[in-house]
Amino acid sequence: MKIVLLGAPGAGKGTQAKKLIDKYGIPQISTGDILRQAVADQTQLGKEAKSYMDSGGLVPDSVVIGLVKERLSQADCKKGFILDGFPRNTAQAETLDGVLASVGMPLEVALSVDVDFDVLLKRLTGRRTCKSKDCGQMYNVYFSASKKDGVCDKCGTELYQRDDDKEETIKKRLDVYKAQTEPLIDYYTKKGILKRVEGVGDINEIFNKICSILK
Ligand code: AP5
Ligand code: MG
Repeated sequence: MKIVLLGAPGAGKGTQAKKLIDKYGIPQISTGDILRQAVADQTQLGKEAKSYMDSGGLVPDSVVIGLVKERLSQADCKKGFILDGFPRNTAQAETLDGVLASVGMPLEVALSVDVDFDVLLKRLTGRRTCKSKDCGQMYNVYFSASKKDGVCDKCGTELYQRDDDKEETIKKRLDVYKAQTEPLIDYYTKKGILKRVEGVGDINEIFNKICSILK
């Protein structure tokens, strides 16, 4: 299964990707997670990406495309993958098509998780994420809080709030989504692989709808 998850910031791409990993045994490739890890590790990539991320803008295509190509070449992607947060604009989508065509693994589905913008602000300001690289479980103080405040239910690691989940940065991210990423809905519609799912409601019910779409 070769899937791209589309959707605005806070639509639930990461939340659903984690569940898809368990069900299909294929890896999630989240460019946001890779970039945040690089920022935390203070690598050259992280230093380069940080200011773009903090402002809510996109990291340059050259940087992100290189990361994704490298990740897709790893052995665990042979059976398939879930791209989360990539592509983010038409140039990235065209490059991805080229890379996948060259290895004979075209995309099968681009799945858009649709949520109204007024819901997204609350989701993003309330988001808390497990600090453990191996877990990364997401919670929400308004909708799905951890049992113990600030601690992951799954692995007991501390939870953190993302630097870009501040109200003014969220607004910029939503503007960038509208201007640059939303046009990909048309892009994949024209390719005949777009599917859509309503991303509001119970997380497990949304996941069940996604599984029926992917069948
Ligand atoms: P990235 O990490 O990709 O962030 P994003 O697209 O803004 O999306 P989010 O991760 O914020 O939302 P999500 O859809 O994963 O929602 P989640 O499941 O967490 O990118 C961050 C930055 O990195 C970008 O701004 C950019 O600078 C850079 N970047 C990344 N990729 C790039 C690229 N390709 N090119 C250039 N730059 C790039 O859910 C959100 C919250 O809602 C959670 O608290 C969750 O628990 C809750 N929730 C989920 N589902 C539900 C539900 N059904 N009901 C109630 N609550 C829910
Ligand atoms: Mg995410």
